[in-house]
Order: sequence, then structure tokens, then C-alpha cells
Amino acid sequence: MSEFARRLVAWQREHGRHNLPWQGGNDAYRIWLSEIMLQQTQVDTVIPYYLRFLERFPDVAALAAAPVEDVMALWSGLGYYARARNLHRAAQQVVERHGGQFPRTAAEIETLPGIGRSTAAAIAAFAHDERAAILDGNVKRVLCRIFGIEGFPGEKAVENRLWALAESLLPERGIGPYIQAQMDLGATVCTRGKPACARCPFHDDCVARRDGRIAELPAARPKKAVPRRSVRVAVVLHDGQVLLERRPPTGIWGGLLALPEIPEQVADVKGWADTTLGVECATASPLAPLTHTFTHFVLDMQPLRLDATRVAAQAMEPGHGWQPLATLADAALPTPVRRILTALSAPDLFSGV
Ligand code: ADE
Repeated sequence: MSEFARRLVAWQREHGRHNLPWQGGNDAYRIWLSEIMLQQTQVDTVIPYYLRFLERFPDVAALAAAPVEDVMALWSGLGYYARARNLHRAAQQVVERHGGQFPRTAAEIETLPGIGRSTAAAIAAFAHDERAAILDGNVKRVLCRIFGIEGFPGEKAVENRLWALAESLLPERGIGPYIQAQMDLGATVCTRGKPACARCPFHDDCVARRDGRIAELPAARPKKAVPRRSVRVAVVLHDGQVLLERRPPTGIWGGLLALPEIPEQVADVKGWADTTLGVECATASPLAPLTHTFTHFVLDMQPLRLDATRVAAQAMEPGHGWQPLATLADAALPTPVRRILTALSAPDLFSGV
């Protein structure tokens, strides 16, 4: 037996969880039910549900024959209801395809609805001593920390590596207690926040503990690269006022007042301002750029200051929204627009002009 397995099992014997209602027997149906209920749910919550469920559905045939509504009713309050629907469907498949005998091997068990590789392995290990590795969230965390496995465990390459490691650590015999020990260590000692390292049998070997990286391992899901957009906006000033446009009701800043966007293809900004906004300006000068982060993208804004020398009549009409700079405090402005306009009256070190 590897030193890892030996130490883990010795720890479990002393400090692990014993006498849980699903422990001790080898009825795959009962073990399966417990493993499904224990996914995403704590032991203390599961116990009363488990006992009630078994009383009403003592074997796989009883579960398969029940109306799905009865199954859902007994699951009610446990959450993640797809688990209950899959459990019922799987029971029916066991009756129809396996003659009412719960399949024995992990490979067969995994073909049933709602049972992944790790759960199938746990059932086969507990019920039939099959030498199969588990790799649920708790085990991933334990292995990443003790062995210093880098990378996000949800990523395929990292996960494959963890499966290979988990398999390499399996003891030849006594697989049930070993699997239970892995689960117990992850659930009671090597917890996500504030692990109880002082009580851990791998205290002196754990890479994460040794290197002070408990909070960093396992690595968090990498942040998605957010799309970036850049836009030039016109800060058209005339007579102490700024030209604002009301944004369409949907999309970013829907319904708020914002600075006119200069279309990407426009090279002659002054010409564009003249024809589109109806303002003649002498100069177009860049102000300090600004970045604004939305939930789904990052917007780089490049404001261009245009001082109007002449304003066509239509530019003064409603819809073009000349807004006195002095009254901006009350205007419905998006934050970055407010920043740009505030900087006009109090230019900071980085303002362009
Ligand atoms: N979590 C998942 N399976 C478990 C089990 N058999 N015992 C305790 N916690 C678990």
C-alpha cells in the first residue's frame, strides 16, 4: 500500500466518520441513494431524507414502480431536483435493462442517468470492493493541495492529471475504507475555507501548507477574457453647455444621456460634427481616455473635445440636448460620462488639454 493510502486509512480509523446510516452494508441500491443525496449536500441534512426515502422505497423495484411525483415529494427540500428525476429514471432502467439487479461494475453503473465517473466508482467500491478511483470536488481539493497540482481542476488537462494521480494512489485492498477516508478528509479537515491543517495526517508533506498556498490551491476558475470595445466620443462644448444624446431604451446606458459616439470610420471629426451634429468647430483635441468595465465587456472611451464656434439652428432643437455644464449634477448620466465631464472643470494631471 502506498504511504499515502496507509496514512489516510489509519487516520480514518481514528478520526473519520463511522456509523453513518449507509455505511457497513453492501447493498448497491442503498449506497447509490446515499451517494446521490450526498452530492452537493451535507451529511447532517441528508440523513433524515435518506431514512424516509428508504422506508418508502426499500429497493430499486419499489422506486421504479413509484409515480415520479411521489419521488419528488420525498426529495422536496433537498434541492437539485434533477438528482431525483434521474434517480427515478435510473431505477426504471435497472428494472428494464438489468432485470432489477443493480449493475455491479463501475463502468456499467456509469451508464445510468445521473451517475458520473466518480459516483459510479464510489458505488462499486463500497458495494463490491472494486478498485476504482473517485474524484469529486473534495478529493480534487485534497490532491491539489497535498501534491501541489497547479491549474483549475475543472479544466480537462488538469482533471486528467488528477484522475491519473488518484488511480496511482489506490491501495490494492481495502478500497472501501480508503474511499471513505478520502471523502472524510476533504469534508472534515481539508475544507475549502480555513482547513484544519493541525489535524491533517499530511500536515508535514502538504505542498500547499509548506509553501503557504492553501488559499491558492486548488486554483480558481480562470476569469473569462472579456471582449473589449473602444469608442471615440464627442465632448461638444458651446457657451457653457455640452451636447448630450439620449441613448436608445435598450442596450448599454439605455435611456440615459450620453456623449455622441463618433463612428469608427470617421477620419475628419470636425467635418462629421458639422454634418451630423450641426456644429462647426475650430479644433478637436483629445481628453484623457477612460476605461469602463461592464459585466460582459470592457469599454475604452476616447473623448475628443470640440469647441463649437457656430451652432446650426437644428442643433439647438430638442433631441440634441444641450445641457448646461453647471446643472450636470442632476442629469441622468452614466458614470464614465460624468467622469469625463467633471474632469473638464477640474482637469487632473492626465487630462489631455
Ligand atoms: N459524500 C459523498 N459520499 C459520502 C459518503 N459516503 N460519506 C460521507 N460523505 C460523503
